Amino acid sequence: MAVFLVLLLAAPVLLVASGPVRDPNNGTVPLVLWHGMGDSCCNPLSMGAIKKMIQEEISGIYVLSLMIGKNVLQDTENGFFLDVNEQVSMVCSQLAQDPKLQGGYNAMGFSQGGQFLRAVAQRCPSPPMRTLISVGGQHQGVYGLPRCPGESSHICDMIREALNRGAYSDLVQKHLVQAQYWHDPLNDDLYKKHSLFLADINQERAVNETYRKNLQLLEKFVMVKFLQDTVVDPVASEWFGFLKTGQAKETETLQESVLYKEDRLGLAAMDKAGKLAFLASEGDHLQFTREWFDANLLPLLRSTRRPA
Ligand SMILES: *[C@@H]1O[C@H](CO)[C@@H](O)[C@H](O)[C@H]1NC(C)=O
Repeated sequence: MAVFLVLLLAAPVLLVASGPVRDPNNGTVPLVLWHGMGDSCCNPLSMGAIKKMIQEEISGIYVLSLMIGKNVLQDTENGFFLDVNEQVSMVCSQLAQDPKLQGGYNAMGFSQGGQFLRAVAQRCPSPPMRTLISVGGQHQGVYGLPRCPGESSHICDMIREALNRGAYSDLVQKHLVQAQYWHDPLNDDLYKKHSLFLADINQERAVNETYRKNLQLLEKFVMVKFLQDTVVDPVASEWFGFLKTGQAKETETLQESVLYKEDRLGLAAMDKAGKLAFLASEGDHLQFTREWFDANLLPLLRSTRRPA
């Protein structure tokens, strides 16, 4: 402890004296946040509050809360209407250009931000993501949109109607974010063939070895499920489970799925290596308490392990 403090105090002097900055993050691992549907990077009641809370707890940590688009309004709209593959590639180039992230970063995605950040891990290994924390993410998608969070219920009604009318039509796929992770167990062929985002990152059409390899570069993949979730259907998706194909009642766990049994994405290998963690929180979608966050997620962000 004493040594650490001395180093911190000495840092400004070293900066002036020796020029290049060895570690711009003071030994902390930077954190990237991706907000959920109907939310934005900077809402003081959600992502803004989380960012502030983390910065209070981990002194000096760099927290980047992703804004998709040029301003908060665009960011919120893009969460409904901008092609997810395009969003992921925008984020990849933003992360690649951020000097503070080049030594690696942890990532925390809320709701749909959870599966979007997993796509970042699978497609963009540089800079390296260390730990991925998915908070209420839907890794096998959703089959139903019972309720939307926040104040976007009119948009939500519109979206639900479009999804029910034809989630796998090219037009809806291209323009509706939620259609890109719509997973209809009664129309498995349509899903596999037409889902532009989820079926691709979940290796439904083919096994992309790059995805398999990149995901396994994570030190840890943590999935948080909400035990009284009324927004995500089925809730099993938050732990990478889903409805069994051909019906819409019974669910299966990740470990029971073909994805895992054939290890098409490297998840079985990660599980054996102790890299997967399945956490549960009491409460409705994203309704965790600060005590729960501090006890369960904060320790994952405190790690100061750097590459050799
Ligand atoms: C596999 O994924 C990588 C990374 O996104 C991509 O560049 C490549 O084109 C994909 N390969 C196939 C066959 O889809």
